[in-house]
Amino acid sequence: MDIDKIVGVMYSGVRPGEDQQVLELLAACGLGHGDITAQKLRHFVVARRGEEIVGAAGLEISGGDALLRSVAVAEGYRRRGVGRSLVEAAERHALSMGVAHIYLLTLTAEAFFAALGYRPAERDSAPAGIRRTTEFQCCCPDTAVCLHKPLAPPAAQ
Ligand SMILES: CC(C)(COP(=O)(O)OP(=O)(O)OC[C@H]1O[C@@H](n2cnc3c(N)ncnc32)[C@H](O)[C@@H]1OP(=O)(O)O)[C@@H](O)C(=O)NCCC(=O)NCCS
Repeated sequence: MDIDKIVGVMYSGVRPGEDQQVLELLAACGLGHGDITAQKLRHFVVARRGEEIVGAAGLEISGGDALLRSVAVAEGYRRRGVGRSLVEAAERHALSMGVAHIYLLTLTAEAFFAALGYRPAERDSAPAGIRRTTEFQCCCPDTAVCLHKPLAPPAAQ
């Protein structure tokens, strides 16, 4: 577990009883969440301060590929590095699950993800397992930008 020393925010997986709080955060941040099941939440990381969930980021894993979705930070906590830390925590989880490539769709946060190494990709170039996700099929309109990042495993010590 990592601790963001600036705002005392901690990062981990979703704990039992927190599902609803995560969905409410996504709704408050204007992100679709109707397709998110308890099963999908197993691959989410959250940022919490005390008992409050202040951020989330989710993965949908398909073999060696993953869709990064539902990256959200509560309004009062933005622009303090929480979003970046959430994406980094999600990437560590992805690596631990054997993921080599992450894809995402975004309408509003291309620059945020670009700063984290995500580059534009043709939507059709995403692997079939990613294109089959609900987000690719229907949640994100065709105007969303598709971004891709290859994950490099940590160098051997
Ligand atoms: C996008 C979002 C998750 C960013 O969270 P955050 O905690 O504010 O991000 P950070 O503070 O970690 O920002 C990291 C960097 O990205 C920049 N950044 C943050 N939001 C940005 C945005 N919307 N556009 C461009 N750059 C952005 C920050 O300035 C920072 O740059 P720096 O390191 O040079 O200072 C947050 O604004 C949010 O929840 N938005 C609503 C939901 C959303 O649109 N999610 C993305 C959909 S996939």
